[in-house]
Amino acid sequence: MKRFISVAGVALSASLLVSTSAFAALDKEAGLALAKKSGCLACHSIEKKVVGPAWGDVSAKYKGDNTQRDRLVAKVKTGGKGNWTEVTGGVPMPPYSPRVADADIEQLVDFVLSLAK
Ligand code: HEC
Repeated sequence: MKRFISVAGVALSASLLVSTSAFAALDKEAGLALAKKSGCLACHSIEKKVVGPAWGDVSAKYKGDNTQRDRLVAKVKTGGKGNWTEVTGGVPMPPYSPRVADADIEQLVDFVLSLAK
C-alpha cells in the first residue's frame, strides 16, 4: 500500500509539472538558454531566418491557433518540412527526439509560440 501511494504521488507531481509547463512559457532568456543547450540556435534565431525560419515568424504564423502546439511538438520530435519552403528553399527540420527530452521540446515549442504578442 505504501508503495502504491508513493507511485501515485510521483505520477501526480509529473502531471502537475506537464500542465504548468503548458501555461507558463519560459521568458526570453531562459527560452534562449534552453534552445542553445538543445542545439536549435544553429538554425534558428528569434528575429532572422538562419537555416530555419525566424521563431518570431513561426509564432506570428500560428498566433491564435490552438491546434498547432501538439503538431509542432511532434514536428520537433520527428522532424519534417513543407511549411516554410518559400523561406528555407525546402530544407527539413531535423528530428530531436530522443536527443532532447520530451519535456524540453514542449517547453521550447511553448516558448516559440509565446513570442508573437
Ligand atoms: C539543421 C537546422 C535546424 C535545427 C538545428 C533546428 N531547426 Fe527548427 N526548423 C528548421 C527548418 C529548415 C525548418 C522549416 C521546416 C518546414 O519547412 O516545415 C524548421 C522549422 C521549425 C519550426 C516550425 C515548424 C512548422 O511546421 O511550422 C519550429 C517550431 C522549430 N523549427 C523548432 C526548432 C527547435 C525547438 C529546435 C531545437 C530543438 C530546432 N527547431 C532546431 C531547421 C532547424
